[in-house]
Amino acid sequence: MKLHRAEEIWLIIGIGIIALSMVITGYQAFAQGMAPPSGMETIDPQKVDQTTPFDNPGIFEIGENEYEVVMILQAFSFTPNEIEVPVGSTVHFTMTSRDVVHGFQVAGTNINAMVTPGHIQKISQTFDKPGEYLVLCNEYCGVGHQMMSTTITVK
Ligand code: CUA
Repeated sequence: MKLHRAEEIWLIIGIGIIALSMVITGYQAFAQGMAPPSGMETIDPQKVDQTTPFDNPGIFEIGENEYEVVMILQAFSFTPNEIEVPVGSTVHFTMTSRDVVHGFQVAGTNINAMVTPGHIQKISQTFDKPGEYLVLCNEYCGVGHQMMSTTITVK
């Protein structure tokens, strides 16, 4: 069977577009870290409260100007829900979700993470400016999603 010239051209363009979008998606996933969480530490989402370190959520001083915040996200709150650290602190967030996918976005910083049940999300940030940083869930998680927020106080 012989294809018409025009069909051939469109076939090539079609395949080209598919190939190009695969390259773009692949590039975003691997080079820019936009892929869904994978290779992260896992946790049994049914046993969050019994699993270290989530059996003891809170703010822990782990060094000079260095803190670890062990946080559980759930519909529709953050535990702990008030965080306060001194100016200049580097905070290492270790997070998981108890139920559905939540977001962890901190206004005024680059923090914007997805927190998925069954996975441990780690993210670090140095807070050089004093203030109240608004923390928002930016993944739709149910009827209370709009109300799911907290603050990080840096002073
Ligand atoms: Cu949690 Cu939206």
